[in-house]
Amino acid sequence: MERVFANYLVLFAALISASSSATVQSTPKPNIVFVLADDYGYNDIGYHGDQIKTPVLDRLAASGVKLENYYVQPICTPTRSQLLSGRYQIHTGLQHSIIVNSQANALPLDSPTIADKLKESGYATHMAGKWHVGFYKEEFMPQNRGFDTYYGYLGGHDTYYTHTNNFTTKAYLDWRDETGPVFNESGLYSAQLLTNRAIQVVRGHNPDKHPLFLYLAYQSVHNPLQVPERYEKQYKHIKDENRRLYAGMVAALDEGVGNLTAALKETGLWDNTVFILSTDNGGTVLYGGNNYPLRGWKGRDARRGLRGRRSGGPTVSSGCGRLAGGSLNGTKDLDGFDQWDTIIKGNKSPRKVMLHNIDILYTPSGQPLEKYVHIWDTSVRAALRMGDYKIITGDPRNGSWVPPPDGRHYDLPEIKDDPDKNLWLFNIKGDPYEHHDLSKKEPEVVEVMLRMLKAMNETAVPPHFPPRDPQSNPALHGGVWGPWQ
Ligand SMILES: *[C@@H]1O[C@H](CO)[C@@H](O)[C@H](O)[C@H]1NC(C)=O
Ligand SMILES: *[C@@H]1O[C@H](CO)[C@@H](O)[C@H](O)[C@H]1NC(C)=O
Ligand SMILES: *[C@@H]1O[C@H](CO)[C@@H](O)[C@H](O)[C@H]1NC(C)=O
Ligand SMILES: *[C@@H]1O[C@H](CO)[C@@H](O)[C@H](O)[C@H]1NC(C)=O
Ligand SMILES: *[C@@H]1O[C@H](CO)[C@@H](O)[C@H](O)[C@H]1NC(C)=O
Ligand SMILES: *[C@@H]1O[C@H](CO)[C@@H](O)[C@H](O)[C@H]1NC(C)=O
Repeated sequence: MERVFANYLVLFAALISASSSATVQSTPKPNIVFVLADDYGYNDIGYHGDQIKTPVLDRLAASGVKLENYYVQPICTPTRSQLLSGRYQIHTGLQHSIIVNSQANALPLDSPTIADKLKESGYATHMAGKWHVGFYKEEFMPQNRGFDTYYGYLGGHDTYYTHTNNFTTKAYLDWRDETGPVFNESGLYSAQLLTNRAIQVVRGHNPDKHPLFLYLAYQSVHNPLQVPERYEKQYKHIKDENRRLYAGMVAALDEGVGNLTAALKETGLWDNTVFILSTDNGGTVLYGGNNYPLRGWKGRDARRGLRGRRSGGPTVSSGCGRLAGGSLNGTKDLDGFDQWDTIIKGNKSPRKVMLHNIDILYTPSGQPLEKYVHIWDTSVRAALRMGDYKIITGDPRNGSWVPPPDGRHYDLPEIKDDPDKNLWLFNIKGDPYEHHDLSKKEPEVVEVMLRMLKAMNETAVPPHFPPRDPQSNPALHGGVWGPWQ
């Protein structure tokens, strides 16, 4: 039945198979398989670019729904926290940067996760891969946040074969399951380990007892650039080493998704599975990723996909509550919307406004613009989408258009912005690649949007970004990353 598929900065949207004669309500609760790729660029999927081949993802997308107007956050923790909680990061305190392993910080417990809610409505819930929403206390561990089983790593920047994350300059194991550290996987490539684990979950699942929720958060294709030779060798023609290694890593991801979908088909689960693929943010240009023709890269505010052929407005990662027939009791106000009819039927999106972020801890950029200072301090890093418009204030970080290093020539607009410039307005519908700043031409739109930013800022909780805690040192806890309080 429905297969949602997503691509892009955490945009990656949905593929739903053509036939969907049965309505969601009249069939058994669907299995939900959510695959999240890491730092996977817009231009790095076969059907968006011409350099990297993804036969499996392309086939899935062709038979499903591509959400080309679907946004993710610019970095890991905010995206993952929003995906899991359905709440804006300004409402969970995670609006600044990421959670570093040694910080005592986490997605607050007053935000139940999608796994909590699906478990309540009868699902078997399993996770494999990257957590990255905090683990300093036992209660924040995945197995205590709604997942029956867990296998993977907790941090943000680990190695692919040795499965370590550094404390200062020393590497410590960061690989575990829901019972504790797993020591024996050294030398095995994470894309294969995580795929195998996901397949094991699928094979072990009894559909007569429960529907399945599987969250597979691949390490691929985050740096460090590490990949078995057999994936890289088809890209010998790419001279740029980073791009070549990265392309190989994408090949491993593509193969892994192929293996997983084959297992879903073999076990008969596929026909009642909503399958979603998304990225957590854009590609990192310095490490081989690419987002061309979109601007910028990982870390820039508000990257996005193209306008969708079927969806009528932006979507954001949020719960699958309705599908699963769940209830939202016990959750705080969600910022997510039920987009199912938008995805399946092409209805107009219920979402009119989407906050990318407001980060009051980020270094202010330039001087607040006099004209607007009574509404909003434009030196503050923030971005918002409203209707067709997107506004950015503060320092959005590098917004260059960077074509992939393949020797092709592109005519790129030149960025002549003053380094102190701190306000941009784009009409995303007419100018999806953000070539034309309208902030001077359309001050009345700017004003409306800044008022909205102000109103949203008033609902924010203070950002929580504690200093690193020396007690987190894995040397004090058996040489392994894990809860320390
Ligand atoms: C992590 O520590 C190892 C030494 O144990 C060092 O070789 C490596 O460069 C460090 N990595 C990072 C990302 O700091
Ligand atoms: C690692 O150990 C676990 C538990 O002993 C076992 O189930 C698993 O197969 C082992 N993995 C490898 C790759 O040896
Ligand atoms: C996919 O399955 C094949 C055949 O079993 C295996 O050789 C390969 O390593 C698997 N790939 C991944 C990424 O798990
Ligand atoms: C929500 O409802 C479910 C099922 O009715 C129940 O198991 C759960 O405890 C409730 N959660 C809260 C936080 O009230
Ligand atoms: C946003 O709200 C915070 C309080 O939460 C306040 O300190 C700050 O001045 C506000 N920022 C703007 C630009 O209005
Ligand atoms: C942004 O990236 C471009 C392309 O890599 C580079 O030429 C430029 O110096 C960068 N600018 C900043 C401010 O980092």
